[in-house]
Amino acid sequence: MSSTKTPFYYGGVAEENYFCNRVEEIEVVKKDINNGLNILIYAPRRFGKTSLVLKALKELNNRYIFIDLMGITDEIEFINAYFNAISISLETTTEKTVRYFKKVLKIRPNINITFDMEGSPSYSLSFTKNEKGKVLEEIMNIPFEHAKHSKEKPIVVLDEFQEVSKLNLEEKLRSLIQLHGNKVSYIFLGSKKSIMQKLFFNKNSAFYKSVKHLPIKGIASSEWSSFIKKGFKNNGKKINDEFIKIILSISKGFPYYTQQIAYELYNSCEPASAVDDIKMKETLRSVLDREEDLFLQEWENLSINQRKALKLIITANGENLYEGKIMDQFNMNSSILKKAVEGLVNKDVIDKSGKRYYMQDPMFEYYLHERLL
Ligand SMILES: Nc1ncnc2c1ncn2[C@@H]1O[C@H](COP(=O)(O)OP(=O)(O)O)[C@@H](O)[C@H]1O
Ligand SMILES: [Mg+2]
Repeated sequence: MSSTKTPFYYGGVAEENYFCNRVEEIEVVKKDINNGLNILIYAPRRFGKTSLVLKALKELNNRYIFIDLMGITDEIEFINAYFNAISISLETTTEKTVRYFKKVLKIRPNINITFDMEGSPSYSLSFTKNEKGKVLEEIMNIPFEHAKHSKEKPIVVLDEFQEVSKLNLEEKLRSLIQLHGNKVSYIFLGSKKSIMQKLFFNKNSAFYKSVKHLPIKGIASSEWSSFIKKGFKNNGKKINDEFIKIILSISKGFPYYTQQIAYELYNSCEPASAVDDIKMKETLRSVLDREEDLFLQEWENLSINQRKALKLIITANGENLYEGKIMDQFNMNSSILKKAVEGLVNKDVIDKSGKRYYMQDPMFEYYLHERLL
């Protein structure tokens, strides 16, 4: 990599120099995994869940199997994603991988291998519809069988786990995972709090009380502050504290947006120059422009009353929503407002911390503030 690359990064998994803090969270993940617990982490998308867990796993040195459920639309795809993830975790040649599966699988599906442009293999299975249940069971049991016959404790990460509820697989997965005791550790990651809570905290749900929940917060301002300052300074640019404060007051420490603003701001500065008001303003405008389609789509997904409630919440700074004066201002009464607030919570647009409601996506809030209110 060249030395002129931007010290900030957003989009995929944050690693190495792009990774800021989360020291305590990483220690907790490692300790819980070592103790054989299954872990649940949920937070909005782009909050740094995947980056956090992958960093912890790299430090642990256990074999891990990483399955991203986003985009999976049926059980067969799920089986193949699982199978492919196991194959990749073996970290060996395609020949040895195939030989391994021929040895451990009782069923005899065809194993297919395709290669991408870089020559990395991707594995899948062919089997009949009738064999589906049996194949899922065998595939999911591979890490367990492996653990039984070795000292290794494999870790299975199920990312974007809320998607199982669309696939109707939760009962099946639960019954298999349950049998793996502390021989295999599972990490469940999810971006939809409402669905994850239903899956894990409802008495009648499949995964009730099967995990330790690990709450994660945004990254602290002090950590971001030195991270951002260092990024500019190491590359001969300069940013004053007042601008860092502006970034963090908008991003609220939300990892993706903090990096996004820092990245764009950094790139708007000539070499050896400093951030000023104009660059700050232009950067924020261009970030909003870029996210506008997404936010408008989110806005359009809300009912009229939910939109009103959201405006009210922003105006009231999330507190004392049911005060007469503020309800009058938005032409709402308490029963309509209550229903709208519930809807916004269920859609994961807002959440509550103590007595205060806040928007889960700080940039969406900033967008509404700047352009729609
Ligand atoms: N620990 C971190 N330090 C710095 N930036 C981070 C960190 N975690 C996440 N990010 C930023 O957030 C973005 C999204 O992270 P990701 O792990 O994909 O989130 P999630 O899995 O919650 O959707 C990354 O591309 C990066 O810009
Ligand atoms: Mg992720």
